[in-house]
Amino acid sequence: MNIISKTTQLDKYLIKPYLNKESITVDMTVGNGNDTLFLALNSKKVYGFDIQKIAIEKTDKLLKENGLNNYQLICDSHSELDKYVNELVDVFIFNFGYLPKADKTITTIAESSLEALKKALGLLKIDGLISMTLYYGHRNGEIEREIILDYVNKLDYNKYYVLYIRPFNQQNNPPEIVLITRKK
Ligand SMILES: C[S@@+](CC[C@H](N)C(=O)[O-])C[C@H]1O[C@@H](n2cnc3c(N)ncnc32)[C@H](O)[C@@H]1O
Repeated sequence: MNIISKTTQLDKYLIKPYLNKESITVDMTVGNGNDTLFLALNSKKVYGFDIQKIAIEKTDKLLKENGLNNYQLICDSHSELDKYVNELVDVFIFNFGYLPKADKTITTIAESSLEALKKALGLLKIDGLISMTLYYGHRNGEIEREIILDYVNKLDYNKYYVLYIRPFNQQNNPPEIVLITRKK
């Protein structure tokens, strides 16, 4: 596989070293469950959020088919993170945008995405990781990208290390990745 040209593989490649069998993880946008499955296979427990019931049901089915039970799926906005997760977290994955092959008008939106990110930063362990994939081929995504990038660019460099991965010579706004680790 050509790892750098496929964002969904590249992010997993970068996230994997942050995971072990003791890890607490959160998939902030469950969708079709691919990221939730990856986290459940590589950690102690995964929490998964999605506002769409269909996404939660599909993911529940996928994880059960894989013989997993180390997960809790929550049909609510990720901006409500602190209502459901009361422990420190090793890895968060945000995969913004809309559910592929479903209603494209239901997308993540800047305001709640930013609120969720702020709450995730508050629960992130030292040396833990937040991975965000930004899709900005649609209007909500464009606004979301601008607001998220502006916010992470200003995070205290003494406390956080932020890495921004951007395809450089491609067409049609390919997804970008932002990685944040907590230094202290
Ligand atoms: C690009 S998809 C996620 C793909 C998924 N990670 C996968 O592996 O298949 C984005 C998902 O975010 C969900 N979403 C939108 N707004 C949300 C919110 N406020 N809180 C949680 N999930 C949200 C959508 O319903 C959609 O399923």
